Amino acid sequence: MILLGVNIDHCATLRQARYRDAAETHGGAVEPDPVAFALTAERAGADGITVHLREDRRHIQEQDVWRLRESIATRLNLEMACTPAMIAFALKLKPEYVCVVPEGRQEVTTEGGLDVVANRKRVADCIAAMTGAGIKTSLFIDPDAAQIELAAELGAPFVELHTGAYAHAYYTRKRAAEFKRLRVGAKRAHGLKLFVNAGHGINYVNIAEVRTLPHLHELNIGHSLVSRALFCGAAEAVREMKGKMNEAAK
Ligand code: PXP
Repeated sequence: MILLGVNIDHCATLRQARYRDAAETHGGAVEPDPVAFALTAERAGADGITVHLREDRRHIQEQDVWRLRESIATRLNLEMACTPAMIAFALKLKPEYVCVVPEGRQEVTTEGGLDVVANRKRVADCIAAMTGAGIKTSLFIDPDAAQIELAAELGAPFVELHTGAYAHAYYTRKRAAEFKRLRVGAKRAHGLKLFVNAGHGINYVNIAEVRTLPHLHELNIGHSLVSRALFCGAAEAVREMKGKMNEAAK
């Protein structure tokens, strides 16, 4: 069984489009409420809830994260930049998982994997702080050998392979090469005893191929689920994705 982490950021994006100021103080009183989305997703089979508390707070707000911490029944996965402020926040929050991501203020969404090689010391300190607090760290990286090997060396228990380049190339000639990079990366990570997660740009079409990656533990999926939920509701969107993820295993 491949697990599904439901990323609810874009439910908050929709709320912020209308209630940017009110969301900070009124939380669940303004719509759509990302926490309600999370609870519906859990009832429909989500194995965990993922949020990215961005430095610019463009979608998820701190109050959302605290409400999730109190109310969800599965696992909380906090995506965060490797900064002292976010490390301090995570240590207070105590999510089950953190996923360390790169963050650029101007980007529309996370645009590439974390460069663990260039940020070795910062990432190592972050992993050590989380491990000391009983929080499991995942590093969101491109499926490159150097990044995977260093993730293992630094003692991260999980990597999340960035599937964005593959998803972007899906309708082009580069797709097979991108998929091969992911396959090779997943095997390498598994060989180094890392748990292999993957995410970014996964949708109801490319899932048929993504799910064939070897050693997959969990997929983190957001945008396509929230988009589909507009038409059929959050529960049906989650059920359909989980069904597609595990079709071969049925
Ligand atoms: N995993 C990580 C680390 C991400 O940053 C994101 C996007 O926030 C996702 C998964 C989910 O990507 P998408 O919204 O494209 O499904």
